[in-house]
Amino acid sequence: MDKSLLEENYNKQFNNTGLLDGFYSAPGRVNLIGEHTDYNDGFVLPIAIDKKIYSYLQLRDDEKTKLYSIDFDLSFETTVEKLKFNKNDSWSNYIIGVVSELKKEGYNPNGFNMVFTGDIPIGAGLSSSAALEVVTAFGLDDLNNFNIDPFKKAIIAQKAENNFVGVNCGIMDQYISALGEKDKALLIDCESIEHEEVPFKNKDYEILIIDSKVERGLIDSKYNERREQCDNVVKFFKENVGEEVESLRDVNINELFRYQNKLKDLDYKRATHVLTENRRVLKFSEHLENQEYNKAGRLMYASHLSLKDEFEVSIEELDFLVEKAMDQKGVLGARMTGAGFGGCTVNLIKTANKEEIIESLKDSYLNKYKIEPDFYLSRPVKGAGKF
Ligand code: GLA
Repeated sequence: MDKSLLEENYNKQFNNTGLLDGFYSAPGRVNLIGEHTDYNDGFVLPIAIDKKIYSYLQLRDDEKTKLYSIDFDLSFETTVEKLKFNKNDSWSNYIIGVVSELKKEGYNPNGFNMVFTGDIPIGAGLSSSAALEVVTAFGLDDLNNFNIDPFKKAIIAQKAENNFVGVNCGIMDQYISALGEKDKALLIDCESIEHEEVPFKNKDYEILIIDSKVERGLIDSKYNERREQCDNVVKFFKENVGEEVESLRDVNINELFRYQNKLKDLDYKRATHVLTENRRVLKFSEHLENQEYNKAGRLMYASHLSLKDEFEVSIEELDFLVEKAMDQKGVLGARMTGAGFGGCTVNLIKTANKEEIIESLKDSYLNKYKIEPDFYLSRPVKGAGKF
C-alpha cells in the first residue's frame, strides 16, 4: 500500500496537528469452515486475507474527531464526548462505535483525525466493517498508549458492532482481523475465546474466493432469527435437561436427536447444523494440519449442504457456484462462507488448475445469471497492525 495516497488526502482534508500519528491496517477475512457457530460458543476456522483497510490517524489537541473516507469521498465530524449514531453515512458508526466502547471500558481517547481507504469489497461478506472497527481500535490504542492486548481489542471492536452499530454478530470477524497469522488458519474456540494455529502453507493448494455479487439483503433480521432459533434449543435443554446448559456447546448431539420430537422443527434443524458443523471444524483442522486436502475438501461440501438444508442461509447463486465447482478438476471442496443470503463461496483448489477453474466458473455463472463473479486468491496474512 502506497502511504502517499493516505498522506495526500489527509493534507487536503485536515491540518497537521503536530501530535502523534501513525499508519495502521486491518485485513478482511474468509472463513474456511465453521459457519453460524461463533455465537453458539462453537468452533470456527477463518484466515485473514490480503484485502485490507488502510488508515492514517493523528491525535488532536481538542475533543473533536474528524473522519474522511477516501473511497466514498465523505467526511464526518463529531467529538469524543458526544458520540451519536449517524443514520446517513453508516461507515462512520463503525469508527465512532469503537470510541464509544473504549470509553465504556474506562479508556479516554483524545480527539483525532482519520483518513482511510481499502480494497475489501463491501457487502460481499468478507468483513470490511470488522476490519474498519479493528483498524480503529489498533490505531487509537497505539496513539493513546493504552496497551490493550489484541484479544481485548477484538472484543471491543465486536462490541462496537453489537452495541453501537446494532448488529448482533459473533466474535469471529473481529478476532481474525486482529489476530490473523501469515500462512495459518486460526481454529478459534468461541467459548474460551482462544485459538490454535493450523498451518496452511503448501504452495500446491490455494484458497479461491468467489464473489457471487449478490448483495446480502435483509441479512440482519434473518441472522437474528437464526440466533433466536438456536437460543430456543438452549432454553429447552436448560429447562428440561439441566441448568448447566448455557449454549449449544453444552448440548450433546445424541441428546439433541433424542429430543427431536419435543423441539420445533426449525429449531431442531438449526441446532443440528451447529452441532454437526462444530465436529466438521475440528476434523477439517486435523486434515489441514496433516495436509489431507481431499478429506478436508469433502467436509466443505458437507458444510455447504448443512447450511443450505438445515440452517437455510444459502441462496440459489451460491448453490450453483458450489455445484459447478464440484465438477471442476482441481477443486477439492467448496462452500458458502460468512453469514449467507449472498456474498461469497470459498474453495480449496489445486494451484496447478487455478486458471481453468476460474475461466470455467466465470463462464457458467455469467451464462446463467448474466453477472460476472469476482475471483480472489489469497493465502493467510497477518492481522492488524502498523504498516
Ligand atoms: C457474520 C458474523 C460472524 C458469524 C458469521 C456466520 O460474518 O459477523 O460473527 O456469525 O456471520 O458464521
